[in-house]
Amino acid sequence: MSDSIVYLNGEFVPLDQAQVPVLDRGFIFGDGVYEVVPVYRKTPFRLEEHLRRLDNSLRSIRIDNPCTPDEWQTIISQLIERNAGPDQSVYLQVTRGVAKRDHGFPENFLPTVFGMSNPMSEPDPEQIKQGGCAITLDDTRWQHCDIKAVTLLANILLRQQAIDAGCIEAILIRDGEVTEGAASNVFVVHNKLIRTPPKDSRVLPGITRDVVIELARSNGLTCEEKAISGAELQSADEIWITSSTREIMPITLLDGKVVGNGKAGAMWQQLYALYQQHKHKLRNSA
Ligand code: PDD
Repeated sequence: MSDSIVYLNGEFVPLDQAQVPVLDRGFIFGDGVYEVVPVYRKTPFRLEEHLRRLDNSLRSIRIDNPCTPDEWQTIISQLIERNAGPDQSVYLQVTRGVAKRDHGFPENFLPTVFGMSNPMSEPDPEQIKQGGCAITLDDTRWQHCDIKAVTLLANILLRQQAIDAGCIEAILIRDGEVTEGAASNVFVVHNKLIRTPPKDSRVLPGITRDVVIELARSNGLTCEEKAISGAELQSADEIWITSSTREIMPITLLDGKVVGNGKAGAMWQQLYALYQQHKHKLRNSA
């Protein structure tokens, strides 16, 4: 960790030398946004989509994008080159910079731009097949969950509540409907029909979610983007959570009750295989 090289405001420096002033609005207010880009065989996965989402997040909080797509690409490829391992997860963060503490935006500000990359190991397929346990919790987050904001207090409290209950994720319910996980999107399967909540301000538009939908549809499976009630979640044959770091993870125990037959389901197996093939194609073409 300590020998990793990070990017901060135009420079590549060892992690332990990267410092941000305490008046940075990211520290004071959580006033910033971020991205997490998975990297397979030194190649960023779905980079264009991640950069587009970063641009949307920045626009939503009224920060001009400090870098062009080419400049982001250069920062990301430098981070990948300077850090060990073929598979990595690149983290990017932009905040509204350093200013005297005041809720209103500072007049002229220089955004703080930070990037780091950590080694990422593929989840062990045998372990994933066992699935994980989740609990449902009230979605106590704000109303702009489509913005990938660094202000993640509600998410981390919800995730910790799940961990305290021996689970890997909290599946969140708002007004009787499933929104997403504390740090993942959610899919359910009923009679071979795959469903995930539609993209709106209650969910982060997950890049992995889009890949799963694309792969399902292009392989003749039915995948709907439609609301899922709490009751439908409880009666699902299969439940999956998706994210850039966890890929597609089956949930086999929900609120202490077995989901389906208690093992990763047949539809998950199919989607998981398609996802791995898709990744390997990218790896082999790199
Ligand atoms: N989080 N929903 C939330 C609230 C998330 O935090 C994430 C991912 C996702 C999945 O998005 P994607 O498929 O683009 O990774 C959905 C990242 C991994 C994180 O915060 O570390």
